[in-house]
Parts: sequence; C-alpha cells; structure tokens
Amino acid sequence: MAVSTTTDDITSLILDDHDWFRRQFARLDDITDPTELAKVWQPLADLLDVHARAEEEIFYPHLLRRGDDAEEETLDAIGDHNDIRDGVHEAARHPIGSEAWFEAVHKARMANSEHMAEEEDEGLADFRRNADPGLRAELGRRFAEFKRRHAGVRDLDVSDIDPQEYVEEIEAEIGTRPSDGSLRIGSLKDKD
Ligand SMILES: [Fe+2]
Ligand SMILES: [Fe+2]
Repeated sequence: MAVSTTTDDITSLILDDHDWFRRQFARLDDITDPTELAKVWQPLADLLDVHARAEEEIFYPHLLRRGDDAEEETLDAIGDHNDIRDGVHEAARHPIGSEAWFEAVHKARMANSEHMAEEEDEGLADFRRNADPGLRAELGRRFAEFKRRHAGVRDLDVSDIDPQEYVEEIEAEIGTRPSDGSLRIGSLKDKD
C-alpha cells in the first residue's frame, strides 16, 4: 500500500525529534562554557523526558494494538527510555560542565542513540506497515499537542516505569491478556 507521509504522521514527528536530539548532542561538543552548555542542555534534557513520555502515552499503546512484533519492541523501548532518563536525571544532580555531568550526559547520549536506531528500524517501521494514514495523523496531532502542553513546564512525572507492567496494563485495556498472565509476543495484532 502506497502511503504518503504527512507532517502530521506520528512516525514522522518522532523522526523530527530524533534528528533534533542528534543535532543538540552534537552542539554540546563545541561548547565548554557552563552557561552556554546549559542553554543547549536544558531544552534537550526537557524534550528527552517529554518525548519518551509522549511515546509511552500515545505511540506504544497503539503499536501494541497493531504491530507484528509489538510486545518485544515495546519492552525494549521502555527499558531504553529508562536508561535515557537515568542519564538525564543523573546529569541534573551535578554542576553543568563538571566531569560527572559530562559523564552522565554521555550516558544519556549513548543510550539515546542506540534507542533511536532501534525505534526507527523496528517500532516505527512496524507501525507504518500496520497502521492506516488516518490513525497515524490523529496520533501525530495528539503527540504534537502533548509536547506543546508540557514544553518547558516540567509538570510531568518522568520517573522510570517497569516495562513488563506497562505492557501488561495496556494488554489488560485491550483485553487480550491471557489468564495465566504470560506475555504473548507478537500476538496482539488487530485486537482493538
Ligand atoms: Fe523516540
Ligand atoms: Fe523512544
């Protein structure tokens, strides 16, 4: 099926954020002054948190309903989001520009780079193959609205979440969780 991606398409909006993340991490390489580092880092740290939560609220619940390999992709992604959050929140505990801060930022960057590649090649690709353009656009609008609502406000709970519990909760909502409570990898397709 030929699908033209629109600017509303959630997979396209996620890619836009990923490109922006790469650019902002690269900008940090050229800066040593803590004030200048903060100007680049703070918006980057904020959006890393908001982006992950927006995906968890809006994208992954629908990937779980439609994807071919959605359970495994989602479990991996939530675990990765936790690793990224750990780096971002560790950085917040140190003075910007200190050795410990650079280490934490590096940890967040490595976790994020690895995660984005996987998310792009697996979850996003899976969703494009299985979700119609109308849904992709609707979710894109919700994703953009979520970002607008929380941009720079720091009003979100951005603590780590348990990947298994997250998947189980959504499966319970969809109504496909087997009575023995086990995960059924790849078995949720079209169950909404
Ligand atoms: Fe992402
Ligand atoms: Fe993600």
